[in-house]
Amino acid sequence: MRTVYVNGEFVPEAEAKVSVFDRGFLFADGVYEVTSVLGGKLIDFEGHAVRLERSLRELGMAMPMSRDDLLAIHRRLVAENGIEDGLVYLQVTRGAADRDFAYPDPSTPLTVVLFTQAKPGLADAPKARTGMSVVSIPDRRWGRRDIKTVQLLYPSMGKMEAKARGADDAWMVEDGHVTEGTSNNAYIVKGDTLVTRHLGEEILHGITRAAVLKVAAEQGLTVEERPFTLEEALAADEAFVTSASTFVMPVVEIDGASIGGGQVGPVARRLREAYLEESRKAAV
Ligand code: PDD
Repeated sequence: MRTVYVNGEFVPEAEAKVSVFDRGFLFADGVYEVTSVLGGKLIDFEGHAVRLERSLRELGMAMPMSRDDLLAIHRRLVAENGIEDGLVYLQVTRGAADRDFAYPDPSTPLTVVLFTQAKPGLADAPKARTGMSVVSIPDRRWGRRDIKTVQLLYPSMGKMEAKARGADDAWMVEDGHVTEGTSNNAYIVKGDTLVTRHLGEEILHGITRAAVLKVAAEQGLTVEERPFTLEEALAADEAFVTSASTFVMPVVEIDGASIGGGQVGPVARRLREAYLEESRKAAV
């Protein structure tokens, strides 16, 4: 049985409890982060901590503890649960209060939960070699997707629709342009140019995205941060997604049409290798 962290305590998962009045449960009034673990070490921890602070600030919540304390909890869970490769989830909600749309008094303690998921061979996912398929769906999420909230119903629906249509995931489209994947940022490659949507309120500011764009520039690719259409994606040489749980994951099919001949292309392969190498070196 896993050890999880709940509001200051490390407890067996079966004993972990959160109030039925928790605002995360009643209003999806909370944020989260996912940090991957490779070789027992945390990847891009600093970036995830910085984004957590920003998500909380945007919703008028304070950081519940120092970054160092947060790191210590992550590390203890990784050690106690013997995680070699896997993920650490961090969930922070506005806490438990009598049900009311208005926020409770700011002195209400936030709910802080962390748990691990073991994912042996996380960096050797078979799809990284064969590439994955996506279908396009309309983006029907709320307008502040730059805040990493726990409102994940639409992405769940998107994954289910992808599955029903025989694909691995979905890319969301708004005003004729791809915003992002259901749980990842989306990219296309044409020649030596990498295109991914610019940062704004329409997408999550991926931590993996920031690191991969740096690697791309180091590799001499031209990076264009701008909206792109599905038509442009269908005519691209390559496509891929990035996230903390998939790193750089090639996309070889969009709405049933092959991209790059249906094979994983050299740019995605090189970016994945270089990103994994650099982030393993910097892992904490
Ligand atoms: N998903 N866009 C969305 C909508 C996401 O949910 C995620 C992350 C990303 C990529 O962000 P990052 O590189 O910081 O992981 C982009 C996490 C992993 C999840 O599945 O919960």
